[in-house]
Formats: sequence, C-alpha cells, structure tokens
Amino acid sequence: MKSRFYRPLSIACISPAYFPDICLFVKNNGNYILYKNHDRKFTEADRHRLERTNTEFLYVRSGDMDVVTEYLEQNLDTLLARTDIDSGAKGTILYQTAANYVTDVFDEPDKTADIIRCRSLIRHLMKYVAGHEDALKALQSITSQNYYIFTHSVQMAALMMLVHDRLFEISHDEMIDVGIGSLLHDVGLVFLSGDLLNKPDALAAIEYHKVKQHARKGYEHLKSAGTLGEVSLTIVRHHHEKFDGSGYPSGLKGDDIPRSAQLAALCDTYCAMTTERPKHNALPKSEALRIMGEEVGSTFSPELFKRFEAIVTGRAETA
Ligand SMILES: [Fe+2]
Ligand SMILES: [Fe+2]
Repeated sequence: MKSRFYRPLSIACISPAYFPDICLFVKNNGNYILYKNHDRKFTEADRHRLERTNTEFLYVRSGDMDVVTEYLEQNLDTLLARTDIDSGAKGTILYQTAANYVTDVFDEPDKTADIIRCRSLIRHLMKYVAGHEDALKALQSITSQNYYIFTHSVQMAALMMLVHDRLFEISHDEMIDVGIGSLLHDVGLVFLSGDLLNKPDALAAIEYHKVKQHARKGYEHLKSAGTLGEVSLTIVRHHHEKFDGSGYPSGLKGDDIPRSAQLAALCDTYCAMTTERPKHNALPKSEALRIMGEEVGSTFSPELFKRFEAIVTGRAETA
C-alpha cells in the first residue's frame, strides 16, 4: 500500500545539507506533480522560491517516509538548536517528526515497542512546550485535513503536558509518560479495520463517534509490548471514561477515573473541537469551552474543568 500514497512534509524541515536524496512533489488541484527528482539536491533557492508562492508543504511518497523520519529524528537536535530558524518553524519541525512517528506506529503497530524513539521525541516536545509561550498556538495552527489523526495526537500530547505542568508537581519521568500516553492515545484505531488508514474521513468520523473498542484495543496492544509506563497505559485505556460513569471501556465514575485520564478526556475533546477536521470546521476556543461546559458533571469533573478552562484561556499561570 505504501508507494501509492503521498505524505506532506513541511518545507521548514528540509535542511539542504542533510536532506536525503528523494523525490519531492507539489500538490496541484489534487494531483501530485514532481517538484524535484531524487538526483537533484534541494537548495536554499528552492526554499525561497516556494516561500514566495506561499507553499508550506511538499509531498513525499509514503514509501520514502522511512528515510525522511530517520533524517528528522537524527537531526532533530541540530534543527531545533539552529538560531536561523524561528520558533514557529521549530514547532513545525517537531510536529512533523512526532506526526511521522505516529504515522509509523499506525502503519506498523509493532513499532510501539521501540519506546526509546518516542521518549526522545516527547522530551523534545516537552522542552518546546515549556520554552515557547505560543507553542500550543504554533502546533495547533498546523492542520492537515488528510492527516487529522496524526496532527491530533501531537496536539493532544502538547496540551496534556502543558496542563499537567500547570496543575501538578509531577516528576520529569511521569511527565514523559503523560506525553507518550497522549501521543499514542488513539493507537487502538488501527486495529479496527485494515483499510481505515486509507480513509482519512472515516478515521475522523470514527474518532468523532467514539468507536468504543479503540481504547481497550490500544491499551491491550501497548501493554503486551511491555515498554510503556502505567501512566501512559492509563491514558490510552481510560481517555473516554466519563465523570458520571457512562463512558468506556470500564464505566469508571468520578474520581475513580485516574487523574491523568480525566485530563486526557478534557484535552482530547478540546483539541478535537478546536482543530480543523474533515467535514468539521475548527471551533473558536470560547465556543469549544462553552460546549464542553455543558458537559460538566456528566462528562467532565466540575473542579478539573474549571482549572483546565483557566489554563487554556490563559487566566491561570499556576493553580
Ligand atoms: Fe480516542
Ligand atoms: Fe483522540
């Protein structure tokens, strides 16, 4: 299936000196047109030309994603340390690397066992979220209709770490676990049907209608991989529990729902509503919070919702 599909790659991620020799494409009226062949180097002149036409993404054959992901992960330190790249572009690079990781895991779920990659990504993401005022905004502005589920996972991980950081004194290791669990929270979707990944609309609809098995299936898969911490597993397993006990998979109620899972439900819903999805426009922050507010007491804990709202509206620095 791989070679038939194209994946977006932000131009910010292409560092001419190290970028692998692969073909790059531009998208025009739904068609992918060759921009450069594998034997021609991408140059700074290419970047300027594309910037002038406001082209943010080029496309890569999905069969080439392995080398792109390897390139990004190996050069992430260097790319994020560069002083000639602004904070927004660094967010894009980080987002793209993390989204590639999630894509990879959806393609080959066995890769979740390779937790070292994920841990290193989450560390970078954490540093970025902590060090950049507008990190969330930068990460949320990156939307890619066809790749909703991957974008969503990265945004959710960033928001979860921010919220945990503001609300609780948790250890560095626990924070990493929060990030990993959030990045992988919907991984169970991959087990619902082999064709789902080729149908981005279906994926989004499934997420929206909360197909119930993905939480349990994701949890069972990751648990059997044996490399994830308890907090990560809890987030994956219980992110669809509801405060009144009507959620799934366990129908846990009130504060029997682990704290990280209650926050996962808040961040998951908020990220989904405020992001452009196939067939759903992104809602403004205030409107998303208003709708979520109607579910306080049924879906969400009143106390946690209040604190969550204060953080995303910027009314609370610390709780
Ligand atoms: Fe989910
Ligand atoms: Fe989700």
